[in-house]
Amino acid sequence: MISLSFILSLALVPLAFAQNNTQLQIEAIEAHFSNSGLVPSLLPTFVPEAEMVLDFAGVGQITPGQALDKSQVAPAPSVLITPANSTVSLEGTFTLAMIDADIVGADQSEGQTRHWLVNSVTLTGTTPLNVSTEGATVITSYAGPGPAAGSGAHRYVVLLYSQPSTFTAPEGLNAPGAAVEKYNFDDYVKNSNLGPLVAGTYFTVEEGTASATVSSTAAVVTSTLPVATASGTSGSTSGSGSGAPSPTSTGSSQSNGAKGSKVFSVEVLLIAFALGFFLG
Ligand SMILES: *[C@@H]1O[C@H](CO)[C@@H](O)[C@H](O)[C@H]1NC(C)=O
Ligand SMILES: *[C@@H]1O[C@H](CO)[C@@H](O)[C@H](O)[C@H]1NC(C)=O
Ligand SMILES: *[C@@H]1O[C@H](CO)[C@@H](O)[C@H](O)[C@H]1NC(C)=O
Repeated sequence: MISLSFILSLALVPLAFAQNNTQLQIEAIEAHFSNSGLVPSLLPTFVPEAEMVLDFAGVGQITPGQALDKSQVAPAPSVLITPANSTVSLEGTFTLAMIDADIVGADQSEGQTRHWLVNSVTLTGTTPLNVSTEGATVITSYAGPGPAAGSGAHRYVVLLYSQPSTFTAPEGLNAPGAAVEKYNFDDYVKNSNLGPLVAGTYFTVEEGTASATVSSTAAVVTSTLPVATASGTSGSTSGSGSGAPSPTSTGSSQSNGAKGSKVFSVEVLLIAFALGFFLG
């Protein structure tokens, strides 16, 4: 005789396989980093343990790789962090950085322009946690993107690293007031003992029309990306309309919905079977 609890536990099996939306979002960001060439040209690997969402005043939460106008990203965003799962601990201090990794295909060995660098930030509030710069050391204040006209869609990459007690800021970057200028971000991370990487995302800004030599616009094949969109995304920002990579994952909510209803229908089927077994 099959017990009701056995059948009900069977019915719960599909729920255990339903993927957490946060995990889907992280996979989407990973795919964007690969498709836009940030991995491996900027970062040899990119395995975040949390989702990062940027929230710009007047724009709202943006999607990974979103194309934006420089006016939209002029003020510093809120940086929101959601751990992949409950085993990810986000205690302690972190370093927040934003760099201009230039256009797709740019030689990263020449370094990246530092647009934001803050040591000793903390994560505050409830999920999504907010990156708080209160009491932190602002080495370079947030400087909104301003790519040269015709230079293509620049990739602005925001990254959050664990900042262990062994962290040592290098000469020239150990006090507030460092200018917006080129540095080698990979060297900075390695030489200062930062890590591991916690989370990251990026957006693009393009000024004017790219010259003929720039071919950055086809780099992100949106159809190959996992469907996921930032929960609560306003989705209202369409960027500059420049033709830059703009993987805004249109239709993702339908896809997630379809996945949810598939799980749900299996549930209903099993519960109906269970009821039928007992009533019949
Ligand atoms: C939790 O997330 C981390 C980071 O993605 C991952 O390494 C770990 O395997 C996950 N743990 C579980 C139980 O899913
Ligand atoms: C799903 O993600 C949220 C946000 O981090 C987390 O609190 C929750 O534990 C996750 N659920 C599972 C089943 O991993
Ligand atoms: C996050 O913290 C910053 C200060 O570090 C603050 O300006 C911002 O309003 C906070 N955002 C949210 C959503 O709490």
